[in-house]
Amino acid sequence: MPFARPKVIANFAITFDGKVSRPSGGPSLFSSKTDKRRLVEIRALGDALLVGASTLAADTMTMGISDARLRQRRIRKGLAEYPLRVIFSNSGRLDPRWRVFQHDFSPIILMTTERIPVRTRARLEKLGVDVVCQQGKKVDVARALRWLASHHQVGKAVCEGGPRLIRAFFEANCVDELYLTWCPPLFGGRNTPRLCGAGKKMFARAVRFDLLSWRVIGNECFLHYRVMRSADSPEAP
Ligand SMILES: NC(=O)c1ccc[n+]([C@@H]2O[C@H](COP(=O)([O-])OP(=O)(O)OC[C@H]3O[C@@H](n4cnc5c(N)ncnc54)[C@H](OP(=O)(O)O)[C@@H]3O)[C@@H](O)[C@H]2O)c1
Repeated sequence: MPFARPKVIANFAITFDGKVSRPSGGPSLFSSKTDKRRLVEIRALGDALLVGASTLAADTMTMGISDARLRQRRIRKGLAEYPLRVIFSNSGRLDPRWRVFQHDFSPIILMTTERIPVRTRARLEKLGVDVVCQQGKKVDVARALRWLASHHQVGKAVCEGGPRLIRAFFEANCVDELYLTWCPPLFGGRNTPRLCGAGKKMFARAVRFDLLSWRVIGNECFLHYRVMRSADSPEAP
């Protein structure tokens, strides 16, 4: 019996026109302190935190939990103090000087392919990164999730994107819940990335959601959705 994949919770902030960042990339600075606080609270729900290479680079994150009370709460619930940090990169071209690699509070796993340059792999492994290589040009995200369940007992994973990574998760039918913060700015721009990237292709099937909760704080609307899926879905958790 193959391992079931972990439950996947996605978290994004979007502008009124559904954009997630400026076309030039860079960190998403348009949401409030309340949203940033909620991001850390949602991050603290998972056994693992999943991010794509460009988000890691743009947001210069450590993938940690800055609030000691949230870490204590995790420990009381029987979780590790910090979630496992899981980075997705098809090319594997990550810079070992990035902030995330300067902190050793939880294991770091790189989900990549055989495209990873030998020297980069060696440098990352020297830093303690567990490099998980799949054959082919692209990481099969469903397979990566099952690997996390079988090798690290990950039951719940939080995915903070970015857009291209979350698109791959939606395409593989591997998202279960979505936290969305709807924020006032309008960015405009045809090429400004949206929730699922700037790609032109529609999903083969629309993803549908049930609203679980919503709350307005200040100028922003905090939404929590569950992805509607039939129980016999091949990638149900
Ligand atoms: N508003 C928000 O809530 C929010 C959330 C997250 C990110 N962002 C913003 O989004 C921007 C980055 O967008 P993005 O779409 O480029 O980010 P991304 O999805 O984090 O990064 C894309 C890169 O991740 C890797 N990747 C994507 N899908 C993959 C898959 N299925 N398997 C393995 N690796 C995969 C690839 O890396 P390689 O090229 O190395 O192969 C790809 O180039 C940043 O400006 C960031 O601040 C906003």
